[in-house]
Amino acid sequence: SAAEKGGWSSFMRKEVAEQPEAVQKTILGRAVDGKVVIPELEAFGDDRLRDIHRITVVACGTASYAGLVAKYAIEQWARIPVEVELSHEFRYREPVLDEHTLVVSISQSGETMDTLMAVKYAREQGAKAISICNTQGATIPRESDAVVYTHAGPEVAVASTKAFVAQITALYLFGLHLARVRGTLDDAALAENLAELQAIPEKLEAVLGESDGVAQLAHWMADTRSVLFLGRHVGYPIALEGALKLKELAYIHAEGFAAGELKHGPIALIEPGQPVFVVVPSPRGSQNLHPKVVSNIQEIRARGARVIAIAEEGDAAVLPFADEVVRIPLAAPLFEPLLAVVPLQVFAMELAEAKGLDVDQPRNLAKSVTVE
Ligand code: G6P
Repeated sequence: SAAEKGGWSSFMRKEVAEQPEAVQKTILGRAVDGKVVIPELEAFGDDRLRDIHRITVVACGTASYAGLVAKYAIEQWARIPVEVELSHEFRYREPVLDEHTLVVSISQSGETMDTLMAVKYAREQGAKAISICNTQGATIPRESDAVVYTHAGPEVAVASTKAFVAQITALYLFGLHLARVRGTLDDAALAENLAELQAIPEKLEAVLGESDGVAQLAHWMADTRSVLFLGRHVGYPIALEGALKLKELAYIHAEGFAAGELKHGPIALIEPGQPVFVVVPSPRGSQNLHPKVVSNIQEIRARGARVIAIAEEGDAAVLPFADEVVRIPLAAPLFEPLLAVVPLQVFAMELAEAKGLDVDQPRNLAKSVTVE
């Protein structure tokens, strides 16, 4: 009903706008004096967290992309190998699992059948299971050894938005907690990263405040038949999520690629007028990926692509080659996905609305897939 939408024209619009709050509430009570405290993990025990040799993330859809983002942060901070698996692929091979494996499931609903079955299977094989979930008392948390809830509030629109940023937030908190328990980050580094996370809600407000330009672009592009998305490092899963949102909401063919993979195939798709979103890494990043992505932009531009760059404020290097630039506030490189995803969500939502589609209930999709 209109009342439930709180004055917004759709649940999706409301939930996109609620993202600063989703992040903030997920951090609430878990940041104490520059350290992460996760009371829900007390019973699980720090000894068991020290005893883990590797992490396997299982999830479907948007939740799996939150896992892909978190892989970079958890490996960097806690120095533990992380693999990310689609739940439905995971359990139909013979995954190597033992008591030193931690399976982290991610599910907004906590009811996705494939993810539930993956968790059950992993525990039968002796692995430990922690669930990242947005729904209190759902089945997946009940079938896990511990749960870290995201506090995004109820998500009604079928395509996930605020749950995604809350999932990354919870996984980052978990990663910092692991790093402290395992002694891989010192107090200063823990505090610095936590402060970066705590600064995200305000920066999200700023990104949302700049949505008009993206909305305009989406309306101009309402007849587009195909859109490509490129990203690198943590920007790669964001490219995948941008493409998924456009498929789900606007029924437009879209694909996300790792920018470095361009020359191994996808560049063959570039023809004059092809729109390509590029999530540009920060020029301040220690790995110096920025010039590599800028040169990818030049390569596709030379072949006629229409480039829409998502780039941080002050990044002037993209200007000569991009047809459009969407700005995001400065953040440490690992935290950029939380900001860069928003213009892509808004683009998909606005384009769907320009086509007169129901953004809350896209055709053929269900909010929670409780069958295999
Ligand atoms: C469905 C929804 C997606 C969601 C996926 C996983 O396909 O349409 O938006 O990402 O399920 O859902 P979960 O509840 O497990 O996060």
